[in-house]
Amino acid sequence: MTTATDARVLQTLDGPPWDIDAYLKIGGYEAWKKCVKELSATDIVNELKKAGLRGRGGAGFPTGIKWEKVLNHRVKEHYFVCNAGEHEPGTFKDRYMLKHAPHQLIEGCLIGAYTVQAKAAFIYLNHEYQEERENLKKALAQAKERGFLGKNAMGSGMDLDLQIFDGYGSYVAGEETAMLESMQGRPAMPRQKPPFYPTDFGLYGKPTLVNNVETLCNIPRILQKGSAWFTQVGTEKCPGTMMFSLSGAINKPGVYERPMGITIRELIDTCGGGVPGGRKIKAVFPGGPAFSMVTADQLDLTMDFDSLKKAGTGLGSAGMIVVDDATCMVAKTLHFSNFFKGESCGQCPPCRMGTINLAALLTKIEQGEGTQKDMDSLLQLCGFVKGTGYCTLVTGAAVLVQSSVKLFRHEFDEHIRLQRCPYQPVAAGAAAH
Ligand SMILES: Cc1cc2nc3c(=O)[nH]c(=O)nc-3n(C[C@H](O)[C@H](O)[C@H](O)COP(=O)(O)O)c2cc1C
Repeated sequence: MTTATDARVLQTLDGPPWDIDAYLKIGGYEAWKKCVKELSATDIVNELKKAGLRGRGGAGFPTGIKWEKVLNHRVKEHYFVCNAGEHEPGTFKDRYMLKHAPHQLIEGCLIGAYTVQAKAAFIYLNHEYQEERENLKKALAQAKERGFLGKNAMGSGMDLDLQIFDGYGSYVAGEETAMLESMQGRPAMPRQKPPFYPTDFGLYGKPTLVNNVETLCNIPRILQKGSAWFTQVGTEKCPGTMMFSLSGAINKPGVYERPMGITIRELIDTCGGGVPGGRKIKAVFPGGPAFSMVTADQLDLTMDFDSLKKAGTGLGSAGMIVVDDATCMVAKTLHFSNFFKGESCGQCPPCRMGTINLAALLTKIEQGEGTQKDMDSLLQLCGFVKGTGYCTLVTGAAVLVQSSVKLFRHEFDEHIRLQRCPYQPVAAGAAAH
């Protein structure tokens, strides 16, 4: 059972989210003050390393180590970018924090940019997040007025501004190197890694600190309350909480902050209020459509980077999607496959062609025109494209199909045997033929 005292990110404000006085009343900007007045950059990095904070944007990379890499880089011109590009189906947690905690995010960004001595700092924002943009703008104006950012921000000796950069508006543009490319006016296409990791070769080719919105919202309270407080919740290797986005066949979809290591069952039952209409769970995407599904007998798996990886899936950015037993898995797989097809940036041939062909084969099967040979081609194609590409989009597209076929092969076979989708009603008169 989780309690309100477990919260590490969300705080209750007595006022609208952009109201700086409401934020100051709960200790807002105290951590920023502490960083400037009491802590060295190395102290900040060490505290984050002790906290064991891991990036919440999908990869779970240790935040303190990333900050240290940029801070100590031999090239001294550094940049800072907050990744608020959020565009994955079923993930909407960053949107929630942008809307409800803009000052907390600004404080996290200021600390990040200050620690790595960034020459310029940006929030790369999903261009569709209009209301969030307005909240952020109001909060930024207030923080500037109080001297928390701008010229000689907080007496730090740094002229620190935080600029909102309107995002390119695609899924791939959230991949950090594609994001940086688009910020330089080029198509949002990922760079080859290695060697082009942002900590070495980021914005304008300079070392750049890129962090996710939720990662940065964790920073102020870790520095204010200490790493020992932070690690009281969560698991040993994944301390703290996660902002889980719950959607799909769920009574109460939404964003829930819960400790890392909560079970899938507890999230669905206690947060999401179970599955609507007395339906049963057929499958769950614990970390969104780019990771393997799990089935109803795996609901006691715990939600953290390591446990899910060990179980053959992943946490990603914790966009959990629940699928009920009224759903055709071929149609569901096709739905997400079409998403990957539409979002491939087209740079890498295996991704460009692979996502098109995966979706085409799935369409054929779903429409009752598929054969067992198509099933062989589908699985063969997954094997060919997996692990290729400058980013993980095509791997996600292949993993989706492989996982669906592995767990629900009988549904694919049934489409082929009946030459129609068994979940679609049979047209009048058609049954006799
Ligand atoms: C296709 C793709 C899309 C991504 N989209 C996002 C995104 O919208 N927001 C985000 O923070 N990270 C996204 N990531 C992960 C980023 O590349 C990067 O790992 C992250 O921003 C680093 O921040 P963190 O260390 O705080 O997690 C995406 C990765 C891939 C492969």
